[in-house]
Amino acid sequence: TYVVTEACIKCKYTDCVDVCPVDCFREGPNFLVIDPDECIDCTLCEPECPINAIYRDDDLPEGQEVFLGINAELAKQWKPIIQKKDALPDADEWAQVKDKIDLLER
Ligand code: SF4
Ligand code: F3S
Repeated sequence: TYVVTEACIKCKYTDCVDVCPVDCFREGPNFLVIDPDECIDCTLCEPECPINAIYRDDDLPEGQEVFLGINAELAKQWKPIIQKKDALPDADEWAQVKDKIDLLER
């Protein structure tokens, strides 16, 4: 499965959702996740994210492994998002910030 990682928090550009053939993105207040039970590993979303927040589960950057479980957990709670929409305000500023995990709203 593919996994949305920390960079997405407080950005949510949503370019990724437009290309997913199986509509497996789920939306929270300031983050998106991929439902691992639906993702077919098509690879299309990975290059679409302008800030490279999406990785294959076996290729997660160091420190981002926790997002595998976070995606699986929150995918069961959040609703599908199937169309691109405006990024969050100040997304461009937040895109540069590291260690945002404590800002993830559930
Ligand atoms: Fe959707 Fe393909 Fe990305 Fe999986 S890899 S989330 S199926 S676009
Ligand atoms: Fe997030 Fe990137 Fe998609 S910022 S919403 S994973 S395009």
